[in-house]
Amino acid sequence: MQLIIFGAPGAGKGTMAQNIQKFKQFSHISTGDLFRRHIKEKTDLGKLATEYIEKGLLVPDKVTEDLIRHELDMIREDFILDGFPRNIAQAEALDEILQDFGIKLTACVHLDIDPEIVVERLVNRMSCQDCGAPYNLIIKKPKVENVCDECGGQLTRRADDNEETIRHRFTTYHEETAPLIDYYKKQGLLMTVNCNEGILTKLDQVWEELSALDK
Ligand code: AP5
Ligand code: MG
Repeated sequence: MQLIIFGAPGAGKGTMAQNIQKFKQFSHISTGDLFRRHIKEKTDLGKLATEYIEKGLLVPDKVTEDLIRHELDMIREDFILDGFPRNIAQAEALDEILQDFGIKLTACVHLDIDPEIVVERLVNRMSCQDCGAPYNLIIKKPKVENVCDECGGQLTRRADDNEETIRHRFTTYHEETAPLIDYYKKQGLLMTVNCNEGILTKLDQVWEELSALDK
């Protein structure tokens, strides 16, 4: 099964991708996570990505497309693309990459959410700097403040989870990413999930629908 998950910042793309793994092992490819790894390792790509991520802008298409081509070339099995494509040019590039590799998409899952819910989620999001375990100060607090329950590592916030950058991320989403709804609707691949009440309650239903598509 080859899936795309897209949606506004904080819609729950990462959370959904991780939870779908309850049903099936997938390679979870998140462009945001890949960029953050490069930033942590201080690579040239990391330096370039920082300039865009801290402003809530998209990293240039060519760089991002090359990264995805490389990742998919290594995998080619069941995968979830989280945060790619993010505009029409990237969607067209992905079509080409998949054609080159002889892969067909199963579905493009759009996580639809009210922006007001999301800002509160993002300013309360933290994760462990050592093991990456996710926390949220509203729904999943650590037992000890700023300390990871799993490994005792320190919890940190993402540099782009401040109100100003979040606002820019939303503008970028509406201007560049939202047109993907029509793009994938026309291809008959769009599956919309209303996430205002939380996505985890819908996980079984989402998986059932995806499994039906894969037959
Ligand atoms: P990226 O890392 O993809 O960030 P994003 O799109 O802003 O999305 P997030 O990761 O913030 O949110 P999410 O939807 O994964 O939600 P999550 O599950 O964490 O991209 C970062 C940047 O990298 C971009 O701005 C751009 O600069 C660059 N970039 C990335 N891809 C690119 C591309 N293709 N091209 C160019 N540039 C690119 O959930 C959020 C929070 O809510 C968590 O705390 C979670 O615990 C909580 N939560 C989740 N679900 C629920 C629920 N049901 N109820 C309550 N809380 C919930
Ligand atoms: Mg994410």
